[in-house]
Amino acid sequence: MTSLPLALECVTEALGGSCDGLLKIITNPNLINVAYLVAIILFIVGLKKLTSPATARQGNFIAGIGMMIALVATLLDRQIVDYKWILVGAVAGVPLGWISARKVKMTAMPEMVALFNGVGGGAVALIALTEYYTWTQHGIGITTDVEVASVFSLIIGSISFWGSVIAFLKLSERITGKPVTFPGQSIVNSLIGLGVLGAGGFLLFSTGMDPYWITVAIAGAAAFLGITLVLPIGGADMPVVISTLNAMTGLAAAAAGFALGNNSLIVAGMIVGASGTILTNLMAVAMNRTIPGVLFGSFGGSGETAGPAGAAAEHGGTVQSTDAASVAILMAYAQSVIVVPGYGLAVAQAQHTVREMADELEKRDISVKYAIHPVAGRMPGHMNVLLAEADVPYDQLVEMDDINPEFERTDVAIVVGANDVTNPAAKTSPESPIYGMPILEVDQAHNVIVLKRSMSAGYAGIDNELYYNPKTQMLFGDAKASLAEIVNELKNV
Ligand code: TAP
Repeated sequence: MTSLPLALECVTEALGGSCDGLLKIITNPNLINVAYLVAIILFIVGLKKLTSPATARQGNFIAGIGMMIALVATLLDRQIVDYKWILVGAVAGVPLGWISARKVKMTAMPEMVALFNGVGGGAVALIALTEYYTWTQHGIGITTDVEVASVFSLIIGSISFWGSVIAFLKLSERITGKPVTFPGQSIVNSLIGLGVLGAGGFLLFSTGMDPYWITVAIAGAAAFLGITLVLPIGGADMPVVISTLNAMTGLAAAAAGFALGNNSLIVAGMIVGASGTILTNLMAVAMNRTIPGVLFGSFGGSGETAGPAGAAAEHGGTVQSTDAASVAILMAYAQSVIVVPGYGLAVAQAQHTVREMADELEKRDISVKYAIHPVAGRMPGHMNVLLAEADVPYDQLVEMDDINPEFERTDVAIVVGANDVTNPAAKTSPESPIYGMPILEVDQAHNVIVLKRSMSAGYAGIDNELYYNPKTQMLFGDAKASLAEIVNELKNV
């Protein structure tokens, strides 16, 4: 098969015209670099627009156009000599990406993002492997800077791919979310880490052609590291892990761009690397963790899921349940209500119904605010996206640090499918796996209503002492159904 520019040439010749000039222009390296520059600008504009729910869709679209331009520019590059496998990849990948993105449920979005991120890391590692294969098979000499970039992308890309696969399996609950450890894990990891670095150093400093199997061994050892680094990290600390893997994929892609001499890949990788690093830092601050502590300290603990009986026995307390009519009366006579959304809101798809409830309350001049915890749900900004979908005014969404002082002045805090982010054990129980994580202090409100289906634990797998607080009343059931009942009852109060 010929290259795309040559194919275009054949077509134009077959049509009887001579488009030599046009072909020279569109495959000119300078024009390709201009196309990359346009793509980069679109990536940056798109990213900027992603910072607000109001412009996020537009930002996604703009960045997508940028990616399309970068792809076309790369396909026109004369360095590509054979389109066969590119075509096979496109035929397999485009429908797969399209269908999975169309079909994915909002609640499964975090695991899909983890998987897509991993695929990026895997692609980068494969690029490094194939480049090495070409160099060793054809005896091509390469400069040290290109080799450094390739070794870096091989190691980081491989760790990122396999780490993301484990994150995907944990988030989708295909494997346990609890920490998985084995004796001597830290020592084994350290030894393998040193081995990977040593082998990478050998590739860089040895003279002459290195055996190809060394690169395959490095990729394999880095894969093992990716798996064993993420397996011991427990439930509540996954946000930090996911954003770290995201940053790693970006940096590995930037290094691959450097090795391939592809400017758009360098910049796109750096954008992902930089934003992933900032996000990692934000997530760690939100969880009151240090990044090394999460990655190497097996944080997230070994929380056991307590069933209803076990939980009650452990607390020696009782759980008060209530009904929708009583909740409606309580709220109808309140002056202020704070809604605390969590992952269960996403599962129940109750964002529109919660908005209806807020509308009913506001008709009665009751102040309604939404308390947003930075790691509520399963992905950064999860609650903001859901509530924006229901057109909840942005000024009613209040960040954790700003809303916490307000709980003690609030008549009713209504917790809709949130659990870990409200658990007072984070402040009171040093042995708790979530100890130290800042929480929404709903237990300070005058009355607490909790909407969930059962006494089951949240993501961290631990019991919540909030449910045994005498101020708390549980309204058991699917959040959407419970909210719909409350709305009906409010209309009758
Ligand atoms: P969780 O602690 O996971 O609790 C969600 C609660 O929703 C569950 O206890 C569940 O109880 C309830 N629920 C599920 N479906 C429901 C439905 N249809 N109707 C009513 N309730 C329902 O959620 P959270 O408080 O939002 O905390 C988030 C957790 O996920 C944290 O531990 C966080 O670290 C972790 N995490 C976050 C992220 C990001 S970036 N946000 C990423 C990965 C992990 P029932 O089963 O009894 O109904």
